[in-house]
Amino acid sequence: MTSVQMRPLSEHVGVEASGVDLTTLDDAAFGSLRDAVAAHGVLFVRDQALTPEQHIAFARRWGTIDVNKYFPANGGHPEIAEVRKAENQQTNIGGGWHTDHSYDAVPAMGSILLARETPPSGGDTLFASLGAAFDSLSEGLKTMLRGLRAVHSADHIYSADGIYAKTDQGADLKGHDERTRAIHPVVIHHPRTGREILYVNPAFTLHFEGWTREESAPLLAYLYQVAMQDRFQCRISWAPGSIAIWDNRSTWHCAMNDYHGHRRLMHRITISGEPLD
Ligand code: SIN
Repeated sequence: MTSVQMRPLSEHVGVEASGVDLTTLDDAAFGSLRDAVAAHGVLFVRDQALTPEQHIAFARRWGTIDVNKYFPANGGHPEIAEVRKAENQQTNIGGGWHTDHSYDAVPAMGSILLARETPPSGGDTLFASLGAAFDSLSEGLKTMLRGLRAVHSADHIYSADGIYAKTDQGADLKGHDERTRAIHPVVIHHPRTGREILYVNPAFTLHFEGWTREESAPLLAYLYQVAMQDRFQCRISWAPGSIAIWDNRSTWHCAMNDYHGHRRLMHRITISGEPLD
């Protein structure tokens, strides 16, 4: 039986597992990883040189694979999306705080990101706990937020006239004609733990339902500023073979873009989720 050791990466988010080989995990050890992701939001494991086939097989243990509409696929493996930045590119993917797929009616549960090529320094990923951010709010604000829903979309990011199209990542991305719109509660209950979580994010949330964008912007900005505090974050530093498995419902993430002139290549497989309430 595999004995997995866990070390928290910060007070509120992130845990690192060691003593584990993701290709030979028994069901009990796999269950402890699933529990760790639900409890800590993101699980980090070093030195897992998985082949693409092993990466896909490991992902299938978590659920159904959600094929990404926008990112280039790894040749021959449509399940694997490449998150990449070349030596001559300035813009990276995921360089602002976000949670993946909140623009879908049933947002993805999470992703399994495997580092293939990393820069000599930099290129870390930050994660934030949206459960801890919500807990820190006043009872009055929590009560008001529980009564709100918010509208999410990715069109302003990925469409032909969206944010990425104006950058040197534009030519690599696809899905310019996809149209997305979803409405979710602003405070969701985590499907496994039941914990209340603030479910808005700076990339994809447009406005509160029934409010204009102008009316929504100040409250959203306040919530983002709360959630971006260092005390709710952890930082992951990658090397080839590092893997992070994160929960999109309870965390945000942000990929640092501080390694210009160097290549970074990550393989991401996203796992389908369930309706949020
Ligand atoms: C992402 O936003 O999924 C990419 C994160 C990363 O490259 O660190």
